[in-house]
Amino acid sequence: MNEILKKIGRIGIVPVVVLDTPADAVPLAKALCEGGLPCAEVTFRTAAAEEAIRSITETFPDMLTGAGTVLTTEQVDRAAAAGAKFIVSPGLNPKIARYCVEKGIPVVPGCATPSEVEQAIEYGLDVVKFFPAEQAGGLAYIKAISAPYTGMRFLPTGGISAANAGSYLAFDRVLACGGSWMVKNDLIKAGDFDKITALTREAAAIVREKRG
Ligand code: 3PG
Repeated sequence: MNEILKKIGRIGIVPVVVLDTPADAVPLAKALCEGGLPCAEVTFRTAAAEEAIRSITETFPDMLTGAGTVLTTEQVDRAAAAGAKFIVSPGLNPKIARYCVEKGIPVVPGCATPSEVEQAIEYGLDVVKFFPAEQAGGLAYIKAISAPYTGMRFLPTGGISAANAGSYLAFDRVLACGGSWMVKNDLIKAGDFDKITALTREAAAIVREKRG
């Protein structure tokens, strides 16, 4: 497995961030680092993503900052140039997956069916996002779909919170969980980075409890 993805596995939870204002990026990253999750998937759902990734990677070069909701190869280029260490997409877009593999950029495409997992295997990938996790069948579904694909690890995202993250993390085929519960947009907008630090600490404690 790629070293960056191994590190994500050790952190255990990937905060999924939607930033409206690039100026919020550094205080948010600081809150995540102080809370014990030095990792973020900054989504390309807003125009602020590229600049946010750039300022986080400049200020916290050791943090695992990646780009999420990547839907085009042009976004892959912009994310990588800004310093993104990994790329996440909601679905398995063959163009994006191939492009990242060719460029040696770790990519985690969303897969919710066996056919998509097999497509990911064709690209030589050993980690896929399982999205939308809770809505698509949750942990029971991951347990079933992971059985035939013994080399594949999953990054469930969608509907995960402090209430259910632990049960996902207890299953060894789950590399890490993704989620936005500790970085909710209203907290970012309100500048409540102390609350974000507290929720991140709580999330990091769940990882420690389940994984030691
Ligand atoms: C994602 O982009 O991966 C999801 O929207 C995050 O899902 P959540 O907001 O339910 O954690």
